[in-house]
Amino acid sequence: MTNMEAHSANGTRPAAPRLYVITGSASGIGLATRQLLESQGHRVIGADLHDAEVIADLSTPEGRTTLVEDVTELSGGRIDAVLAVAGVDIAGPATAAINYYGAIATMDGLRPLLHESPAPRVAAVSSITSVHPFDQQLLDTLLDGTEEDALARAATAPQVYATTKRALSRWIRRHAVDAGWAGAGIPLNAVAPGLVRTELLKRLFEDPETQRRIEAGSPMPLGGPYEPVAAAELLAWLTSETNGHMTGQTIFLDGGADVVLRGDSTW
Ligand code: NAI
Repeated sequence: MTNMEAHSANGTRPAAPRLYVITGSASGIGLATRQLLESQGHRVIGADLHDAEVIADLSTPEGRTTLVEDVTELSGGRIDAVLAVAGVDIAGPATAAINYYGAIATMDGLRPLLHESPAPRVAAVSSITSVHPFDQQLLDTLLDGTEEDALARAATAPQVYATTKRALSRWIRRHAVDAGWAGAGIPLNAVAPGLVRTELLKRLFEDPETQRRIEAGSPMPLGGPYEPVAAAELLAWLTSETNGHMTGQTIFLDGGADVVLRGDSTW
């Protein structure tokens, strides 16, 4: 019995099959989201550096163009949802190029393909580090300057990863209510995970001092670090037909880390 038939047997309405584009689909959160959506009967076009339908380096303008061209061809020009998941936590310009510019090019570049969907949705993956200390000059340049200037600043700035995630969440907040997004009926949100057991975290934890610093920076009283499928469940909901009204939000899936770090300051 397929998953969708199982839903019917239980008396719940099966979701109509949808076409999703997921960047970073070869590993971690992107792969878990791909597997979850496919298990629900949906179709996924994955984009990554390897093991994906679209092979594209989203840190480069050429890779971003390839993404849009290949997805247009593979989809016939019509998709239902975009998930900008690809990201890295390495020092310097590469992190800004993929985490911020790659994510924005994914969302903006694929947006025209959403217009014929009855329920178009977009979500990105930010991070609990979006509320960590950041570099103000890099943030300003990411949001309002050129990519060339931002990458130059990222070569020497501190806290590049946290700054790219703050910029991504702010970009979403700034744009979600624009004519091109809310005006076109497209909810635009982000998930901000705490610590998730993926290759990215495994690489960072190879250095015990880095592990200690990261764990101290993201305290997770509810459950601690978790498996990527938990993030996949939230991404799937945000980009499902069911989410018709939430937009511009960064949802913390972080075991309480945001509450510990920011306390009363938000409300
Ligand atoms: P991962 O390393 O398991 O997967 C990332 C995927 O992105 C890989 O398949 C990789 O090949 C792809 N990728 C990297 N650079 C790329 C490029 N230039 N072009 C195209 N694809 C590229 O990592 P994970 O943890 O699944 O990360 C997914 C997202 O979650 C990232 O945006 C990351 O910043 C974010 N995140 C992860 C957390 C964690 O604890 N693992 C916590 C908070 C946010």
